[in-house]
Amino acid sequence: MSNRGGFSDRLGFVAAAAGSAIGLGSIWKFPFEVGSNGGAAFVLVYVLCCFVFCFPIMLAEVAIGRKTHKNAVGAFGVLGFKQWSIIGKLGLVSGVLILSFYNVVSGWAFGFFIEIMRGNFGIGKEFSTFISDIPLMTTYSALFMVMTAFIVARGISGGIEKATKIMIPALFVILIGLMLYAFSLDHALTGLKFYLVPDFSKITFKVIYSALGQAFFSLSLGMGALITYGSYFSRDNNIVSSSVIIIAATISIAFIAGLMMFPFVAYISQGTMQGVGSGPGLIFTVLPGVFESFGTTLGIIVGGSFFLLLSFAALTSTVSLLEVPVAYLVDEYKWDRQKTVWGVALFIFLIGIPSMLSSGASPFFTEFITYLGATKATDFLTFVQHIANDTFLPLGGFMISIFTAYYWKKENLDAELTAGNEGYANSWVRPLVHIAVSFVCPIILGIIFVLTVLDRFFGIALV
Ligand code: TRP
Repeated sequence: MSNRGGFSDRLGFVAAAAGSAIGLGSIWKFPFEVGSNGGAAFVLVYVLCCFVFCFPIMLAEVAIGRKTHKNAVGAFGVLGFKQWSIIGKLGLVSGVLILSFYNVVSGWAFGFFIEIMRGNFGIGKEFSTFISDIPLMTTYSALFMVMTAFIVARGISGGIEKATKIMIPALFVILIGLMLYAFSLDHALTGLKFYLVPDFSKITFKVIYSALGQAFFSLSLGMGALITYGSYFSRDNNIVSSSVIIIAATISIAFIAGLMMFPFVAYISQGTMQGVGSGPGLIFTVLPGVFESFGTTLGIIVGGSFFLLLSFAALTSTVSLLEVPVAYLVDEYKWDRQKTVWGVALFIFLIGIPSMLSSGASPFFTEFITYLGATKATDFLTFVQHIANDTFLPLGGFMISIFTAYYWKKENLDAELTAGNEGYANSWVRPLVHIAVSFVCPIILGIIFVLTVLDRFFGIALV
C-alpha cells in the first residue's frame, strides 16, 4: 500500500471527493435540468435522492475502497468476491464513457473562458458554430485533457489533493460573488421564484429518474470513483461525517449555481424566463449576453470569473474520472503510473471524438439514434450521457447495495465505518443505513432502473 500513495489527511480526501462531485454536473447540468424539469419540484426530488439513495451508497463505496486499499475492480477480489468485480468493470466502462464526453464539454467551458477574456461576448450567439468548429474544439479539449493528465500524473497527495485544495475554495468564493451580483439585477425575484416555488403537479416519472440520474452523477457514485478515492483514505478518519460534508458541499454548490443562474436568465429575458428550458446550451447561450450588458471591463471580470469557475469545477472532476482506470491498470498490471496516465488520457480523448462531432460537425453523430417511440433523433454526446449517467450509474449503485448487504455483509460495512468513528456502532445512522442498503436502495433503484430503460429507449411508459 505504501507505494500507492494516499491523501495526507481527512481534508485532502474531502477536498478531492468534493472536487470530483462538484463539476459540470452541479454548475452546467443542474440548472438546465431544473429548467427543463419543472423548477423547484426537481430540486426537491434531487435533494431527496441524494440523502435517501446516494448517501448509503457513498458510505459503501468509500468503505470498500478503504478496507481493501485497491482500485474499483481489484477491491472486490481482495474482499473474496472476484466475480463481483464485474461492478468495477462496468464502472471502468462508465468512467471512460463519461470522461470522453465530459472532456468535450470541459473544452467548451475552457474555450468560453478564453473567448470572454478576449472580450468576445458574441460567443453565446455563436455557440452552435463554436462547438462545431472542429479544429478549435480539438485544441481546447486536447488542452483540457493535458491539464487533467498533468495533475493525475503528479499522484494523489502531490497532484489531485493539492489541486483540489486550491480550486474548491476558489470556486466557492467566485460562485458566491456571482450569486450576490445576480441578486442585484432587474427581475432577480422572478428568476428566484421560478427556481424556488415548487409546483408538485410537475413531478412526473421523468422528473424522478432525471433527478436520480443527476444525483448519482453529481455525487460521482455508481462507478467506483469513490472506491478508488476511498482506497487512498486513512483508517483513522471518519467516513460517515466526511460523506455528509461531501454531499452537503455538492448540494450547496448546485443550489447556489441555481441561485445565480435563474436571476441571470430572468434578467436577460426581461422577466419572461424565455429560453430557460433550452437544455444543454443554457449557460453557454444565455450567460455571455448577460456579461456583455455589463460593459466590457466588468463583463470580462464577471464573465471571465464564471467560465474560470466552470473550468476549475470540471478539472477537479476529470481528474477523478481519469484516476479510476489509471489506478486499475497500475494496481492490477503493475504498469508505470506516468505512462499509464498519459496513455489512458490519449485513449479517452480519442473515444471522445464522436461526441465532439455530434454537435453539428457530423450529421451522422448529430442525429445518431432515434429511440423507439421518439420523434426526434438523439445526438451521440447525449446518447452516451443516457447510457453512462442515467443507466449505468444507477445500475452500478443497485449492484453495490446488493453486494454490500448480501455478500460482503452489513457487519463488515459496520466495522469499516466504525474505524475512525467509534460512536458509529451505537448511532441512529447505522440502522437506517442497514435498511437503505438492504431494502430501499436495491428495490427502488431496481424498479426505477427498469422503468427508465423501458421509458427512455423503448418508448414504453408504464407509469
Ligand atoms: N460528479 C461530476 C460532476 O457532477 C462528474 C464526475 C466526476 C463523475 N467523477 C465521476 C460522475 C464519477 C460519475 C462518476 O460534474
